[in-house]
Amino acid sequence: MTETHPVRFPAPADGGLTPEMLAAFARDGYLVLRGYVDPAACDALRARAEALVEEFDPAEAKTVFSTRTRAHSADDYFKGSGDKIRLFFEEEAIDADGNITVEKSRAINKIGHAMHDLDPGFEAFSHNMKLARTAADLGFADPLLLQSMYIFKQPEIGGEVLCHQDGTFLLTEPESVIGLWFALEDATVENGCLYALRGEHRGPLRRRYRNRDGELVVENLDNAPWDEAARVPLEAAKGDLVLLHGRLPHFSGPNRSPRSRHAYTLHVIDGACRYLDDNWLVRGPDMPLRGFA
Ligand code: FE2
Repeated sequence: MTETHPVRFPAPADGGLTPEMLAAFARDGYLVLRGYVDPAACDALRARAEALVEEFDPAEAKTVFSTRTRAHSADDYFKGSGDKIRLFFEEEAIDADGNITVEKSRAINKIGHAMHDLDPGFEAFSHNMKLARTAADLGFADPLLLQSMYIFKQPEIGGEVLCHQDGTFLLTEPESVIGLWFALEDATVENGCLYALRGEHRGPLRRRYRNRDGELVVENLDNAPWDEAARVPLEAAKGDLVLLHGRLPHFSGPNRSPRSRHAYTLHVIDGACRYLDDNWLVRGPDMPLRGFA
């Protein structure tokens, strides 16, 4: 009988990964752990995100997303977000004149990128010994939480995310980034779940997104095509954790369904590796990276 993918494992209570789980991660480039997070913790994080949206004044960033001709301003708002809590709009929530066309709670694409250090609710979710155990079993000598994102994937207008490798955006020498993707609601093919190219983490890093003299640019490293035949939908239930290897190509389609698809992600790097100083994400000296404790 052929195996159905993704293979899913019940999440270990203490976060420890079995040899079978580690073998699946090494083979596929992803690992789906069912029920890693208590549903109540998912709801609490969602409530925190909604509070941040409620507190947010769209005037702060409205110009950022109002027209494509103001893209440079958007870059500034984005560039400075590595050690802040900032909110980014759905492309389809802003009209050509810069007006928000849906209610604010339905207009935000994501929040990033340092809630895990700046917001008590996100901090409690992100820093704990269960995740520390998972990271240790993945091989991290000194896991550091580099980036957090709350992704709304709004009903009807949730934007697609094109196929990419996380190492493109957050590069260390040697490579170490791993993505932790928490489903805060059920994620299905209907509401824009993740897809991965199974096993393609063994291929080269294709692109580099970096800061070149103050400008964020994409550079091609390798033109090898994605193997679309390896595509697997990573459907996940509320509370599941999906681990993503830093070279695993993954993407998600637009959400045209009436249901949102909230998810929370953490990107972890190893402090034993060198964080390249031309990565887009920078933090001030008063915001050193922390581990899971
Ligand atoms: Fe990603």
